[in-house]
Amino acid sequence: MKKAEYFAQILPASLPSAKAQGRAYAPANIALSKYWGKRDVELNLPTNGSLSISLAHLGTQTTITAAAQDTLLLNGECLDLQTPFAKKVFTFVEYFRRGEHHPVQILTENSIPTAAGLASSASGFAALTLAIDDYWQLELPKSTLSAIARIGSGSAARSLWHGFVKWQSGERADGRDSIAMPIHSDWRSLRIALLEINTMPKKIGSGAGMRHTAETSPLFASWPALAEADLSIIEQAIFEKDFTVLGQTSEANALAMHAVMLAARPALCYFQAETYAMLQKVWQARAEGLAVYATIDAGPNVKLLYQAEQQAEVAQYFPQAVHINPFAED
Ligand code: PMV
Repeated sequence: MKKAEYFAQILPASLPSAKAQGRAYAPANIALSKYWGKRDVELNLPTNGSLSISLAHLGTQTTITAAAQDTLLLNGECLDLQTPFAKKVFTFVEYFRRGEHHPVQILTENSIPTAAGLASSASGFAALTLAIDDYWQLELPKSTLSAIARIGSGSAARSLWHGFVKWQSGERADGRDSIAMPIHSDWRSLRIALLEINTMPKKIGSGAGMRHTAETSPLFASWPALAEADLSIIEQAIFEKDFTVLGQTSEANALAMHAVMLAARPALCYFQAETYAMLQKVWQARAEGLAVYATIDAGPNVKLLYQAEQQAEVAQYFPQAVHINPFAED
């Protein structure tokens, strides 16, 4: 199914009238069991489910208003519409406008510190989807908005909620069941830390990386079942607030994903020397009794999982860490 057909079955035939302003916030998220591989590239349908934790106040705020011509401001700076980022944003907006003349100004502000080395596409597309829904008064259910955000960036499907979020892969060819949903848990002592290694844009984006891995890695065949099994274990650990199982499984899942990539031909390696050094440090800290675990996405940066009681010790081992309380209320 093509994207145009996908949007036609979700949206009303013509857009309702726009409000003066549409506005929304969406948090960034980090997968504890990872999404890697697409069963449908056009609709961003994954080969396996995934489960994430949202990063509270680290995310994207997006505001849409009518304008004389399409305009995009990122963190206060007006972007050339020919930049890849602007093209992606307006291609997405066009799925809704479908040729209708309705120029807009989009203001997007990322609160994710550039130094944190975190992709902002998940929170970016989630906030854009929510702001569009608000601006054009679409009032779509959140599950539908998740299935829409997914088209912008797979992991954006999970950024519509705070806390733990599960994205089920779904089975339907039209992708209507490939949606995320929140897991009801407030694990208040859980903490995330971001360790910056390199914040330069990655050379191979996640889409190209997934395709190359699926096409050439002899280990890829075993990945979807492993990822689904890890997802179930992590979900159970969340219900039981079993930090050891959560940490062990999250770290193992991330390393298994990177092992599948490393086995691709040629190898796909997102790690840098410092990534390995940081992993060794995590393992050393654990050997010395500190309950801290690592997870790594499609880039060199390392994220830590630990519990509030260990924050001072984690900060001592990793002085550069940016600490996040995912369930903070302010
Ligand atoms: O949403 P994308 O296309 O940027 O892919 C995200 C891939 C990982 O970050 C590696 C894993 C995940 O589930 O977020």
